[in-house]
This record gives sequence, C-alpha cells and structure tokens, in this order.
Amino acid sequence: MTAASESITDTTGDDMTMTDTGTAPTTEPDQPALPIYRLAEVTRTYSQKNRVVHALAGVDLEIRPGDFVTIQGPTGGGKSTLLQLLGALDRPTSGTILLGDTDLGTAGDGALHRIRAHEIGFVFQGFNLIPTLTAGENVDMALEPLRLSKAERAERVAEALARVGLADRADHRPGELSGGQQQRVAIARALVKRPRVMLADEPTGNLDERMRDEILDVLQGLNDGGLTLVVVTHDSAVARRATRRLRLANGRIAEL
Ligand SMILES: Nc1ncnc2c1ncn2[C@@H]1O[C@H](COP(=O)(O)OP(=O)(O)OP(=O)(O)O)[C@@H](O)[C@H]1O
Ligand SMILES: [Mg+2]
Repeated sequence: MTAASESITDTTGDDMTMTDTGTAPTTEPDQPALPIYRLAEVTRTYSQKNRVVHALAGVDLEIRPGDFVTIQGPTGGGKSTLLQLLGALDRPTSGTILLGDTDLGTAGDGALHRIRAHEIGFVFQGFNLIPTLTAGENVDMALEPLRLSKAERAERVAEALARVGLADRADHRPGELSGGQQQRVAIARALVKRPRVMLADEPTGNLDERMRDEILDVLQGLNDGGLTLVVVTHDSAVARRATRRLRLANGRIAEL
C-alpha cells in the first residue's frame, strides 16, 4: 500500500496520471505503478593518477515498467558507465540509484549478485557467447544460479529460443550461426531468467542493416509483450523504435 501511494506522489504526474487514477489497486500494491529505476543526482567519478574523469556528473532519471528507452550521445559521454550502474555491475560515487526499492549503491555484494542473476538481462555488442557450447547450452547457463529443476530449465531454454525465433537452432554452436542469430541467442540468454528489465549496450553495433532490423523486430516484440528495455546505441534507426529517447553527453542526461 505504501509503495503504491509513494510512487504516485513521487512521479511528477505527467504520463502516469491515467494509470494512477484509472485503477485502484487494493490487494497488490507493490508492482504496478512503481518505477523500475529511480536515479537521483548520480555521479560516477574515475580517478587515475592525477586525473579525475567525471563519467556521470549528476544524473536524475526514472524508468517505468514497459519503457523502451534508448540512450544516445557522443563517445565517452558516459553511456556504458550508466548502463553498468543500472546493471548492478558497478556502484555510483554519489547519489542514489534505486531498483524497485533496493538501493544499488548501498546493497551488499550478495544482494547485487542476486539482482544480476534474477532481475536483469544483459546484452552486449560482442554477443559474449561461449563458442564451445551450443545455443541451448549458452542460454541455459544464465539459469545456473536459479536452482530450477532440469525439466523447468529445459522448458525455459526452449521457450526463450522460440521467442527470438531460434527454436530450430538450439544445437548449433555460435560459429554455425549468423551474427544476427548469435545476437538473438544472447537475447534469449538474457530473457531466460525472466528479468524485470533488459539492458543492452550497442546490441546492433556489429550487425549489418538487415540483421540490425531483425534484432530490432525482436526487441520491439519483447517490449510489446511488456518487457522494459534500456538500449545504448549510436544508431538512430534503433532510437526510432524507442518509446523514450535520451541523450547522455558530458555525464549529463537529457530527454530528446
Ligand atoms: N574504468 C575506467 N577507468 C577510468 N576511466 C573510465 C573507465 N571507464 C570509463 N572511463 C571514462 O569515463 C568516460 C565515460 O566512458 P563510457 O565508457 O561510459 O562512455 P560511452 O558513452 O559508453 O562511450 P562509447 O560511445 O565510446 O562507448 C570516458 O571519458 C572514459 O574514458
Ligand atoms: Mg560505451
């Protein structure tokens, strides 16, 4: 109850108003209206010898369930730094970053590990698949920490590969797949844990235009199904698919 009323007062009232007034959640107060991420005055400073780099210089941001957010901006602008913070792979130098009601800056290492294993799906530009494992085995790896039965694992892997259109490639190794197919395996690996949010850093950066569009169709389909996406990209074709476009330059974020 408190979570729902808190989120109503915390949001600035613009595009949340309809859901807030249209439904009156009484029995399940926690999920629906609560933003997934809330960032306030987040900084990340890297110190090297005598030089200090302000990779993030005060970022305020809210990401809501169902958002498809792209983050564009110049090289060195802080995009990957921000994504690593959202992914609980790194901690801010100052400011707060809440995932649901967990403060990623102060949560213990065990809590961050659990969040990465259960709640966040990652997709990288270079796919990061293990070449000696099949597509199915690569996807299955993400389930290792979840302690599921063998049968449930197999079912989830098959479902994730089917969602990215690769049901018939489970036994192929990465070397036996196209670039677009490899990236789809990487997306399936992120999906299989049924995360709250999927984060992707230049997921189409290594792909030609046709494969890029193929991946964008997959991402858009996932977002249409309700998955929240945060995608860092240099490609305006990717940004055109987004529901919200952000720009990050000099460590500061702006809505486009
Ligand atoms: N581990 C690190 N140690 C020191 N400085 C770093 C580190 N990681 C990033 N930086 C610096 O922080 C700034 C932001 O880097 P970041 O990787 O977030 O940029 P980016 O927007 O992702 O760039 P690109 O588009 O080239 O991927 C850069 O000036 C970079 O040199
Ligand atoms: Mg980067």
